[in-house]
Amino acid sequence: MTTSPLLDIQDLHLAFDGFEGRSQVLDGVNLSVQPGETLGIVGETGCGKSVLARSVTRLLPMPPARITAGTVRFDGADVMAMDRTALARLRGTGVSMIFQDPMTFLNPVFSIGQGMADVIRAHDTATGRRARPRFQARQRAAELLAAVRLPDPGGLLDRYPHELSGGQRQRVLIATALSGTPRLLIADEPTTALDVTVQAGVLRLIDDLVRASNLTLLLISHDLGVIGALCRRIAVMYAGTIAEDGDATLIFARPRHPYTLGLLAAVPDLARPEHRARPIPGHIPDLLHPPPGCRFHPRCPMAVTRCGAEKPVLREVDGRHVACHRAEEVAPERAIAA
Ligand SMILES: Nc1ncnc2c1ncn2[C@@H]1O[C@H](COP(=O)(O)OP(=O)(O)OP(=O)(O)O)[C@@H](O)[C@H]1O
Ligand code: SF4
Ligand SMILES: [Mg+2]
Repeated sequence: MTTSPLLDIQDLHLAFDGFEGRSQVLDGVNLSVQPGETLGIVGETGCGKSVLARSVTRLLPMPPARITAGTVRFDGADVMAMDRTALARLRGTGVSMIFQDPMTFLNPVFSIGQGMADVIRAHDTATGRRARPRFQARQRAAELLAAVRLPDPGGLLDRYPHELSGGQRQRVLIATALSGTPRLLIADEPTTALDVTVQAGVLRLIDDLVRASNLTLLLISHDLGVIGALCRRIAVMYAGTIAEDGDATLIFARPRHPYTLGLLAAVPDLARPEHRARPIPGHIPDLLHPPPGCRFHPRCPMAVTRCGAEKPVLREVDGRHVACHRAEEVAPERAIAA
């Protein structure tokens, strides 16, 4: 049975205009997410993961950011055409975002209770209701803090962000993100700033919350292990394009894009230390002057003349979508050598 997508991004082109010219940061991104899906987005630093995520709720400064083509639809509604009221409703109850550094999003001069109550009351008005009284908003905040397994939620309401540990702050942010009962949760590197021991707990919490509420999850991470643990589907990004998109187990077992193959070969295998991790040589291109054709071609061990001239489109190969002229020939032995 096919349902209509909750999030539908079609041919999205986004550029930043700067003194040196225009950098085409997203170059024709197609991504459609069904309700209840868990999708992980992975790719090297600077490839456009955060910009893509922020486009979903228009959380980008425009200008200098400029959508030059394409559409973003949430539950059928055109996000680019939304007025302030519709956008506030979308951010309140449609899509919630959590980011890498919770301190940036918690106001240091407000106690946890004050900050959360403000957000809860703002969600009320964004959805056309009267804001509930402050004491009720505090009660709701305490319930949400308990739901993210923070001990003594009542006491926590009167504490300030700097009094909390990084892991506790991230849980407060997750609780706040859930306050509008969103349908889509976007988590952009939610555990990257945390200690390894704390990371696992926060990831387990996100996983449990997503399962319990049948939330749709878009998780951004540079860590394939994190994506593999939480997401059934994976989209691999390279320099503002989707390289490969499909079932995570399938792609991990049998990648069909040379870049995915390179990413997987770059992960150390603790079980087989004799298999040395091989990083992909070279760097992501300068997006002010991106290479023509396939943006990966200067680094690709399989590149042929066509790759420098013709941009590959996403097409179905072997049960997933791949943007590579030679997807059918991609095999593990072609992994990029160190
Ligand atoms: N405000 C901005 N002005 C100009 N360029 C920007 C701005 N924000 C992002 N960019 C550019 O957009 C590109 C994509 O950035 P983005 O932050 O989405 O990358 P990312 O994949 O999230 O990287 P990371 O893994 O480091 O978080 C980069 O080349 C970056 O320099
Ligand atoms: S299109 Fe060509 S350059 Fe791009 S990934 Fe495929 S083989 Fe490599
Ligand atoms: Mg980012």
